[in-house]
Order: sequence, then structure tokens, then C-alpha cells
Amino acid sequence: MIVHSQFLEDALAIRKKDQALRSLLPADESMIDFCSNDYLGFTRSPVLLEKVETEWLRLKSLGEKQLLGAGGSRLLAGDSVYAHELENELAVFYGSESGLLFNSGYAANTGILASVPQRGDTILYDELVHASMRDGIRLSHATAWSFAHNDLDHLEALLRKAQGRIFVAVEAFYSMDGDEVPLTELVGLCEKYQAAIILDEAHSNGLYGEHGEGIAFGQKLHSRIFARILTFGKAAGSHGAFVAGSALLREYLINFARPFIYSTALPLHDLAVIRESVRLFPAAIQERAHIFDLANFFRSKIENKHLLLPALGPIQALVIPGNDSVRSIAQKCRAEKLDVRPVLSPTVGQGKERLRIILHAYNTKSEVEKLLSVCNN
Ligand SMILES: Cc1ncc(COP(=O)(O)O)c(C=O)c1O
Repeated sequence: MIVHSQFLEDALAIRKKDQALRSLLPADESMIDFCSNDYLGFTRSPVLLEKVETEWLRLKSLGEKQLLGAGGSRLLAGDSVYAHELENELAVFYGSESGLLFNSGYAANTGILASVPQRGDTILYDELVHASMRDGIRLSHATAWSFAHNDLDHLEALLRKAQGRIFVAVEAFYSMDGDEVPLTELVGLCEKYQAAIILDEAHSNGLYGEHGEGIAFGQKLHSRIFARILTFGKAAGSHGAFVAGSALLREYLINFARPFIYSTALPLHDLAVIRESVRLFPAAIQERAHIFDLANFFRSKIENKHLLLPALGPIQALVIPGNDSVRSIAQKCRAEKLDVRPVLSPTVGQGKERLRIILHAYNTKSEVEKLLSVCNN
């Protein structure tokens, strides 16, 4: 036991020495939120709460028995007509033939990437894709190569060398840089090499597209994409994820995606929240516009423009190299009651440490001005 504890202590000591120790910090409601993924304010929306309460009462009145927990994985006791109805509704909303719910975006990304590409196949992934995609890739037996961020020339060079079935894993909006995948060009390139795109829409779901269907749908490219991962933990203010794709893909994932097969299904209440929040997406027109206005405002007023990453949406990042330096600015923000978090290495590469600022529908211009006064100081 002592040997094991020593190992834990040593690993943590290295993190401390590198100024990279992670620790939990419970949300402080008195702070101005520039940190959560609750883009549209749905986690705190009285409208959503009321809709969920009404739906919950309806479910109770129907005599649903397993109200509190699913009671098993979908393949055992955890399936429900409600889950199937929700999946059908989501497929219509996102314009896919079919789709499958997962317990989280993490489970969806690991599930699809670990199960679909096989030994002899090739996965090409943007160097900045989320850890959940990376972990899925690590679990896969396929060959995997990363390409430089959003660099389609590099991708094409790799596409020429790739063997077997080819999969290209990208994000719609990159979670740490906030910039957008060049989707039209990417789709054209992948079609040239018959490569299937797996697109993580975690940060675009609810925010892009006329009704919040994400960027692929918004750019009318959705039917040319093999799989889209729409997560509900961000703009939907909920939890879980939907893999939008063909009926064949759905059946395959039910049979081979281990996070789907071997994990207890989402409880009915979570399904009700997903249903009601996605139903609210189309009406969130002003909220979406306000977020982009704030982003514009922030970018136009920040003085050190060279530190700003080229992102037009709700994720704004100021690169402040060094864990120490970026932590110190984040602390100055916190002292002003601005909840802004530093992103440290090794979460991002050394020298790319940053202040990650998330703009929400409920942030005001004067809150952003307050933030600017610290950042411009
Ligand atoms: C780009 C991206 N993909 C996937 C995930 C994981 O989604 P979830 O939180 O639903 O597990 C995240 C979460 O931070 C993310 O930012």
C-alpha cells in the first residue's frame, strides 16, 4: 500500500511543481459566469424548468414505473418507448435518417471511434480534437495520424497515404480555440478520397443553424457526413449525446459500441430534459444573436489583439504563455468576481496556455466591459 500511495504522491508532486495541479472549485453563484458551457442559459431557464415539470407530471400520470432510474443498459431492462420516440424526434430535428442516444458526449465519441474503424483502417484526426475523441482513437485498432489544426493540405497529404477505410475526426467548433472547421472544403476533400467524417458538434449544437441544429445542418452538409455527435451538456443545459447518422450506423453502434452496451441508460428525467431543451432551440434566436454580438464586442475592444485566437463565437481565448502567468490573470478576474478559468498545460500545449472566456446569452455588455478592464490592464 505504501508503494502505491508513494506513486500517487509523486505524480501529484510533479503536477504541483509544473503549476499544473487540477483541483475542484464549486460554482460560486455570486460570480459572473464566463466559464460554464451553459451558452443559452438553459440550466437556469425557468421556461425550460416549467416545460420539464409539465412533461414529468405527464409521464407520472401515464403510470411510467421506472421513473427514477433506467434499471439497466438499453439492451437489458433500460430501454423505453420514450427513448425511441425521443431518438425519432431528434433524427427529424437534426435531419438524419436515424441516431442513437449515449449517456454523454464522452461515451458517444469513445463509442463510435473505438468500434467503427477496424484494424487496417485509418483515422485522421485534427490535432486539437477533444480528449473523448482521442480516447476513442486510442481504443481503436485502426492506424491513427493527426493533422495540423484545420490544415487541409496536411490532411490531403495523409489522405493520399491512408489505407483501408478512412475516417476523419473533427470538431465543428474547437473547444479550446473556439475556431470553426472549414466544413465545406473538408467535405469536398473527404469525398474525393472516400473518407467518412465524424463531426463532434458539442459546441455548435443549439448555437448554429437557423434553429440551432448545428453547423453541418446549418450549412446543408449534414447528409454528406457519416456521423455527427450532438451533445446535450452544453447549450442544451442537460446531459447525454445523440449520434446522428444512418439506420445502419445506429444498429451497428447498438451491437458494437461498448459505452452504449455496458452502461446503465439515461434515466427518464434526463430524456425529458433533452426533449424539452431541444424543442426550445428554435425559439432561442435572440439568445444566439446576443452571444455573437458579445463576441464581436469583446474582440473589438480587447487591446492585445495579437493574443486573441481567431474565433468568432462564444469561446474566446487569450493566449498567455506559462501556467503561472495565465493563473495570475485568472486570479485577478476572480478578485473582480469574474469567473474565468485558465487553461493550463498539459491540457493545451506548453506556451499555448490561455484564458478561456465563454460568452453566454445571459452575459451583459457591462459584464464584458468589466472583464475587458481586467484583460486590458
Ligand atoms: C468538443 C467536446 N466533445 C465532447 C465533449 C464531451 O461531452 P460530455 O460532456 O457530454 O461528455 C466535450 C466536453 O467538454 C467537448 O468539449
